[in-house]
Parts: sequence; C-alpha cells; structure tokens
Amino acid sequence: MCGIVGYVGHRQALDVVVDGLRRLEYRGYDSAGVAVVTGPGTLAVERKAGRLANLENRLDEVGRGEFAGTAGMGHTRWATHGPPVDRNAHPHRDATGRVAVVHNGIIENFAALRAELEADGVELTSDTDTETVAHLVGRAYAEGPTKGDLPASLRAVCHRLSGAFTLVVTHVDEPDMIVAARRSSPLVVGVGEGETFVASDVAAFIEYTRDAVELGQDQVITIDRDGYLVTDFDGEEAQTRPFHVDWDLSAAEKGGHEYFMLKEIEEQPTALADTLRGHFVDGRIVLDEQRMTDQDLRDVDKVFVVACGSAYHSGLVAKYAIEHWTRLPVEVELASEFRYRDPVLDRATLVVAVSQSGETADTLEAVRHARDQKARVLAVCNTNGAQIPRESDAVLYTHAGPEIGVASTKAFLAQIAANLMVGLALAQARGTKYSDEVAREFAELAAMPAAVAKVLGTVERVRELGRSLADSKAVLFLGRHVGYPVALEGALKLKELAYMHAEGFAAGELKHGPIALIEEGLPVVIVMPSPKGRAVLHAKMVSNISEIQARGARTIVLAEEGDETVRPFADELIEIPAVPTLLQPLVATVPLQVLSAEIARARGYDVDKPRNLAKSVTVE
Ligand code: F6R
Repeated sequence: MCGIVGYVGHRQALDVVVDGLRRLEYRGYDSAGVAVVTGPGTLAVERKAGRLANLENRLDEVGRGEFAGTAGMGHTRWATHGPPVDRNAHPHRDATGRVAVVHNGIIENFAALRAELEADGVELTSDTDTETVAHLVGRAYAEGPTKGDLPASLRAVCHRLSGAFTLVVTHVDEPDMIVAARRSSPLVVGVGEGETFVASDVAAFIEYTRDAVELGQDQVITIDRDGYLVTDFDGEEAQTRPFHVDWDLSAAEKGGHEYFMLKEIEEQPTALADTLRGHFVDGRIVLDEQRMTDQDLRDVDKVFVVACGSAYHSGLVAKYAIEHWTRLPVEVELASEFRYRDPVLDRATLVVAVSQSGETADTLEAVRHARDQKARVLAVCNTNGAQIPRESDAVLYTHAGPEIGVASTKAFLAQIAANLMVGLALAQARGTKYSDEVAREFAELAAMPAAVAKVLGTVERVRELGRSLADSKAVLFLGRHVGYPVALEGALKLKELAYMHAEGFAAGELKHGPIALIEEGLPVVIVMPSPKGRAVLHAKMVSNISEIQARGARTIVLAEEGDETVRPFADELIEIPAVPTLLQPLVATVPLQVLSAEIARARGYDVDKPRNLAKSVTVE
C-alpha cells in the first residue's frame, strides 16, 4: 500500500521518479506526488489527487523544467488517514517547507504527536499521519543534538514512532542525499553506476539496475550517487543482504497488452514452470530456504495455512492434497482471523503463510503470532526477501515474476503449485508417500504449464460470453471438492474487477439457503468435477445443475473435455482439459479470470486498478 521511490544520481530525478511511480501505481492510486531538490535551498514539490496521470498533467502545466535536479522522491497513495484530496497527497512538508517526507504504512501514535505539535503552535495542513513526521524531522534537524544531521534526525524521530512505516526524507540543505527509514513496510535499494535508488519494490528501478539490497527491520539508510550507508535506529552500522533481480524491464511492462492483468493471465504457463523449476532434485522435493531440520518437518502433527484473499483460496485448494498425501489435519484460515481466536499452536504445528507480496499486514501478524507460540512457519511468497519470508523458518518462492495487475492471477496459480509442493515435501519427510509416488505427483504437476497453455488457446469463446454477461446484476459460482475454492476465486475476481455482486458456494450447500437466490436468467457458473476422477460428486453436481436450471438459472458449466453427461444441462459449456483431480483448479481458474476481466472491460472499468483496492495491503 502506497508506493515510494527515491533517487540520487546523474539523471534528472523527476524522470526517474515519475517512471518509478508508474510501475508502483499498483500499490495505490488515490493520489501521487513528487519532490525534487532543485538547488541548495530550493525544493520543488507537486502533488495531485487521483491517478498518476493527473500529476503528470499538472507537471506539464507547471513546466517540467521547474523540477531540474538530480535528487528527488515520489509517492503514490492508498489513503488511510484523510480522504484522497490534494492536501493529503504526499510529499508532506514541515512548516518551513525545507523538509519533505513520503510515507508508506500507518503511524499509530500520530494523534498524540499531532496534539503535541499543535500544542507547540504548529499548524498542520493535512489530515495525514505523515505530516507529523515532516514537522518532527524539521525540528530535529534545526535544533538539539541532531542539528544539521539528517540521518540522525530521522533516527531520533523513528524512536518516537509506533506502527509500520517506510519513510523517505529530503531536506533542502542536503541536496545530494536522500534518507529513508524502514519498519515493517517494504523498502529495497537499487545500486547503479553513479546512482542509487530506494523504492517499495524493485520494479521502480529495474530499468536502471538489477543489483538490489534488501533492508532489514528498523534500519535507516542514507543514499547518494556513490552508494549507501545503513544503520539501525541507534546509528550502529547494520547488515544488509544484496541480491540480483532475476527478471528485467520487459517483465514489468505491458508488452503490447491493453492491461497488465491480461498479460499476466497469458504468462501463467511460464509462472507455473518457473515455480516448479529446481524443486525436484535427485528424487526429492527441495525448498528454497530451510532454517528448520528435516526432523522438524517429520514431527509436524498439524498444518495451518494462513493467507488473505486469493492466497487464502490457494490454501483451500492445497488442503485437499495435503490431507490426502500426508494424512495430517490441515486448517486453512483467513490471516486476519487467525491470531485473534487463540488457535492451538505448538512446536509440532506447521503454519504455511501464503503471500504474493510477502508484506500483507494480516499475514505478517499471523506469522508473528504463530512464532510466538513456538509453531514453525513456512512462507510461500513471490517477493524475494520480503518481510514474511524473512520472519519464517522455511521459504518456498513462487517465481511468477512481477504481478502488477491488482487482481491476482499468475501469482495465484503459482501459489497453488507451491502449496502442493509443500504437501509433497511433508509427505516425503513423513514417509506417507514413497519416492516414486512423490516423483509421479511432481511429474503430473510439471505437465500443468502445458495444460494451462491449452486452456489459454480456447478462451476466445469465454470472452464473448463475458461480453454477454456485462449487464447482469449478479453471478453465482458453484463448486464441490477442489472446485469449491475455484468457485470462491471466480466470485472474488468478478467482485473486484467488475464490481458485480458475486458469490461462490459449495454446491451441496445450495439447498440450505442460497437456492432462494435463483431466479429467471440468473447466470450461475458451475465448476464440474471430473466424471472419471470424482464420479460420485459429478453425479451429485449434475442433479444440482438440473435443480437450478429448473428454477430458471442460466447455467454456465466448466467441464472436462468429453464430459457428455453434463452437456444437456449447460446453457453455455466451457471445456477444460482432463487433468488429475487435485490439479483441476489450475486449469479451471483460468477461464474464470478471463471471464471477469472481459465483463469488467465491457463495463468500462480499469482492469488493472479496481476501485478502492491496492495490490499489497500493509495495514490491518
Ligand atoms: C485478489 C487479490 C487479493 C490478494 C490478497 C493477499 O485478486 O489479489 O485478494 O490475494 O490481498 O495478498 P498477498 O498474496 O500479497 O498477501
């Protein structure tokens, strides 16, 4: 939530910062702003409510020449404190206008800090928590023990803040440096030739360098064109972890597609293949990082999967496989509920935390709660070095590449694949599957990129169908067994992209209430189990369809190729390849992604940036 970028180097900072913001806009798009040090003693700031395009228009009006300078920073906001209007857009300045601050996170004690400043006669001009930091840093720099020392001033202020924050600060008297601080919210450093970057995500600077450095918790960094210096909040030099980004600019660009999401849907075979690559070595499943012993894995007697949104649905899919393969009980829980209900956790509990961003606040807090209770935590994450994997005992990275569209697509499929590998790793450690069985399951997984590619080759018909549904008031989704989480995911995609009422149900629940919703013409999407793999459920599902068809529903049926039994019950039939039962969600989800995207496009909505949402949710 909120994207921030800072730059010091040899280029015009405004260009670098605006380009960076464009690639971070997925993090928030309520307002955007920039600050550039235009000379000793001068700071040019512009900010505008709405999308980045509004800020760019404003910069053109003012004249970009007014922003000449080689040190600067920018922000794209997802509003927390105060509505998305110009005065609440970042950067915020202190009363002298000499300090500018951008912020991602929430400063929980901001009301007390604000009251203190107001009591001292400071006039605050915004509703934000961030502005208090600008005033505090301005004061710390102007007087007292940290006078004239910007990093020390920021460190002193950090000691006074509670909550989660990444802060980037510039001061007119320090035209060649940018200072930043990090607690819980993300910040990475980009190291180029004669230029240095800080940003919420490497996508902001990938055009210039793929050499990055991951900051730790409670660290302050000073960047200039020659490099960086990192300390803890007490000023002691701190350790950081350099890494090389394994994707390039083309991955962070649309590549001819109208929307990132459409490109990301197409990239799913590659995302799956990249996620599986290198994890089956010498007949064994291997994780990326393991700070727990094999004995710890053998000792696991219960599994929780904790996650939010689509990541949670990926956990629901995996539950069927992990229980089947390991005979361990698996509970899948929304991360936001997990730690508030006192779950029973101990050393033999494995908590699998699934998060694309690796920074979702609810999931991160669930991880912390689990570790406090001595449970082991295994992270499934798409972002190298993010906070959730850093705080976990083991990590399996999904290699979906950057996902810019706010609605998760390729990361979701990659999460399913990774969660299934976690299941196989447990089965192998516990001996509930023989090595040849693990190899067979992995080989079936390895065939899935081709199966997904096949689905993608047939979705034109789904697009047409999507356009025909654009005026519907609501759509229901039904599934059984692994088709149930697919139904939930299909409904979530439709809600978030098309702002259409959508609900996913376990088909067996229909007669316990939801069937009352069925009326003439209501579209109902049904995810059919395989007639061979789950014959009993298939038969039950056929009965469910005929029940709703009898009540006037328009049935849109996703069924395995060659499933003739269901054809008479389908007003619309979408065929998907026959794949092993537990893997069907990987092929069944794809048409539903395409369907939602097309309905949203037909309704005239921005598929990449649905209203009110942001890609990574760093507040609870
Ligand atoms: C839905 C979607 C969200 C995320 C959720 C978790 O399309 O993208 O529901 O899945 O916010 O995000 P991560 O995986 O970053 O923890």
